[in-house]
Amino acid sequence: YTAVELIRAKRDGHRLTDAAIGWLIAAYTDGQIADEQMAAMAMAIYFRGMDDRELATWTRAMIATGSRMDFATLNRPTVDKHSTGGVGDKITLPLVPLVAACGAAVPQLSGRGLGHTGGTLDKLESIPGWRAHLSNAEMLAQLSDLGAVICAAGSGLAPADQKLYALRDVTATVESIPLIASSIMSKKIAEGAASLVLDVKAGSGAFMKEVDAARELAGRMVELGKAAGVQTVAVLTDMSTPLGRTVGNALEVREAVEVLAGGGPDDVVQLTLALATEMVSLAGLDTDPAQILSSGKAMDVWRRMIRAQGGDCDAALPTARFTDDVRASTAGVVTAMDAMAIGVASWRLGAGRARQGDSVQATAGIELLVRPGDRVDAGTPLLRLHTDTPGTFAAAREALTDAIVIGSDPPATRPLIIDRIR
Ligand code: URA
Repeated sequence: YTAVELIRAKRDGHRLTDAAIGWLIAAYTDGQIADEQMAAMAMAIYFRGMDDRELATWTRAMIATGSRMDFATLNRPTVDKHSTGGVGDKITLPLVPLVAACGAAVPQLSGRGLGHTGGTLDKLESIPGWRAHLSNAEMLAQLSDLGAVICAAGSGLAPADQKLYALRDVTATVESIPLIASSIMSKKIAEGAASLVLDVKAGSGAFMKEVDAARELAGRMVELGKAAGVQTVAVLTDMSTPLGRTVGNALEVREAVEVLAGGGPDDVVQLTLALATEMVSLAGLDTDPAQILSSGKAMDVWRRMIRAQGGDCDAALPTARFTDDVRASTAGVVTAMDAMAIGVASWRLGAGRARQGDSVQATAGIELLVRPGDRVDAGTPLLRLHTDTPGTFAAAREALTDAIVIGSDPPATRPLIIDRIR
């Protein structure tokens, strides 16, 4: 094969054979195919898509570029969850210790934030001392001891995806259903958990703005999981408004700890319990996550999990040196709080990175002081911006220009959980 011939075939709407896909992925991973050629291929796939067979082969080829983890020695059922990414999505933090406290082992290999979406590792690194990198042996030991680990995915897991994702990020080819499905599922299948719950987001703050596109993405990921022998269920959830009341690293950890302590915003609690219920059921366990959460057992696992990775649970979380409130210009009812705009503003305040490898501010982010449906007067504070670099306030405010809509009638209530696909 040559890369040019395969790019041309995909560009012209032909399907790629199993052998061609296998060659392409392997050759790209070991540097025989140049980035510009793979970028052209990604763009051709963006426009032409992949059929089910191509997608399954592509995903398998990405898995084959790396190693797979094996949890057969654990004495607990393994189950994981993955979110397609959103704004204020801190659900992993309370969910992993909760499901572990229910009796499962949750090997959560996470990533960092890029662009407007946050990353679980960035959030946890706001806890003094906490470290993201564990060896495989440390990870296995923590899983058999506590059932809960959240750590950085090593470079051995689907290395083709690490390369390809970075390339897609700079070539406007992230938003392709087959490329997202194969990217996520190659990592999750290689991770080796027996079951998987996918939280597929739809709305302004998600990759998929429309519910129908999110539903298609969910369906294709579920099929890939099942074909690889992983029991997979997807839950379709709303991401038009940020989850909870905080966006940003330390701010989100604070909210996650509130949930573990039995409080926290209703939507965060609801989604945590819904995903935990799916995970516990796939794991074949007969425990009630709501009861485990209120018993305090999930908080115990959280504290042990953070401590096992060097974190100090009793140290105060860092707080920003500067805050600035965005206020309502008129009286009325809050009808929309745009997740994308709030995510972009939080990123500009310093919570996110523009390039891989940049550092992030633990303290930067946004507190939502109101939620859709709340009544406000002119001058009521709506959002509190947090940062250590006050020069970023102007850019954050600019991103927020049309983010909050105040109207005369309460908004139609949107269900948080839209559908379930299995
Ligand atoms: N998350 C991933 O891991 N890959 C994608 O393509 C999109 C989101």
